Amino acid sequence: MFISSRRLRRCQLLQVLATCFFVSFMLMWVQDDNDVINHIKSYSYRYLINKYDFVNYSLTIVRDKSDDSKNFKYLINNEDKCENKNLLLLLFVKTSPENRRRRDAIRSTWGNEEYIRTQYAANIKVVFALGVDKDPVTRSLQQGQLDLENQVYKDLIQQEFQDTFHNLTLKFLLQFGWVNAYCPNAKFIMTADDDIFIHTPNLVSYLNAMDSLGVQDFWIGRVHRGSPPVRNKLSKYYVPYEMYQWSSYPDYTAGAAYVVSQDVAAKVYEASQTLNTSLYIDDVFMGICANKMRVVPQYHLFFSGEGKAPYHQCIYNRMMTSHGHTDDIHYLWRQATDPKVKDLASGFWGDLYCKIVNMVLLCRILFADTYPCSAAWS
Ligand SMILES: *[C@@H]1O[C@H](CO)[C@@H](O)[C@H](O)[C@H]1NC(C)=O
Ligand SMILES: *[C@@H]1O[C@H](CO)[C@@H](O)[C@H](O)[C@H]1NC(C)=O
Ligand SMILES: *[C@@H]1O[C@H](CO)[C@@H](O)[C@H](O)[C@H]1NC(C)=O
Repeated sequence: MFISSRRLRRCQLLQVLATCFFVSFMLMWVQDDNDVINHIKSYSYRYLINKYDFVNYSLTIVRDKSDDSKNFKYLINNEDKCENKNLLLLLFVKTSPENRRRRDAIRSTWGNEEYIRTQYAANIKVVFALGVDKDPVTRSLQQGQLDLENQVYKDLIQQEFQDTFHNLTLKFLLQFGWVNAYCPNAKFIMTADDDIFIHTPNLVSYLNAMDSLGVQDFWIGRVHRGSPPVRNKLSKYYVPYEMYQWSSYPDYTAGAAYVVSQDVAAKVYEASQTLNTSLYIDDVFMGICANKMRVVPQYHLFFSGEGKAPYHQCIYNRMMTSHGHTDDIHYLWRQATDPKVKDLASGFWGDLYCKIVNMVLLCRILFADTYPCSAAWS
């Protein structure tokens, strides 16, 4: 015999351990089955069926003309914000009454209209969409401050609905309703969260290029394909069957930041008027509106997911948006708009250097949901 009995026992022990490990792994997997199975189901659904007409039919409602409960009163409006302008971009930032600091940071960095106009010769308008606090006492305290803030900056658009997570679809309706009423001349419309960083110089030069191509049916962002509704009651994104009964959503772009052309904004607005708005996940709702009008989203590789983009000049050279920035926004703005960024990445060697750096930064196994690996050599 080559193997001693002692050695054999050790082998068996190892085997038992491996089996235990495997079984516990499987148990963990199964406990998590909701997610895994949901994703498999929704993916196959997305790629096998690839049609969501029935969603359209069954969520379409005939809205009673007298029912204008969806049209909330404007408490603050800046109706003439878009007037008489050759306007490239109207940028809506979804904010809440208490987020004054974030608004101020945006105004003095990437949302600085004057800076973009003088440095990059582009007209953009940045406005903040918000509702009211759900507590009446806080609300009346805040309202005076918001009025003062608006007197200074003239950039708030506020309606009288409670500013809560589950009312995000109302905020969505505010934005597309407002564009329809007051800003039909903007070439592009963007909507973004207030904790996002937008590289407005990169964005503006990209949109200028798109505009000179005369693009239509344009809708870009980080695309979610075949996402399943979350059926876990504890999740913030929980959606009951009564609200959405199918196993996957039509393709949509993450609500953190996406851009549409004016024609898409008009179509989406039109669809939003005929769909049941009870689905409170605003970006999914947007996807359903767009699906109804047969508009499909395109993935832009430099729109980030939940994660922060790596801090590096080679990333800044390409970045459009990055998520989760509040305290570092001034720092990032200075770094990302430094002229050295363009110098570094220009020319054959600069380009090669940045491709390699970006590959190292983006193609790591450690998963941070920022830009995909393929963005590095795009
Ligand atoms: C959605 O439904 C409407 C009628 O309810 C129909 O006119 C339209 O073509 C449908 N759109 C799609 C994408 O199926
Ligand atoms: C949404 O806002 C409306 C109007 O203020 C309010 O009646 C409703 O309770 C809010 N819903 C949620 C889920 O916060
Ligand atoms: C909209 O959908 C909800 C379920 O999420 C339902 O209760 C409601 O009756 C629908 N509204 C209309 C007008 O069909």
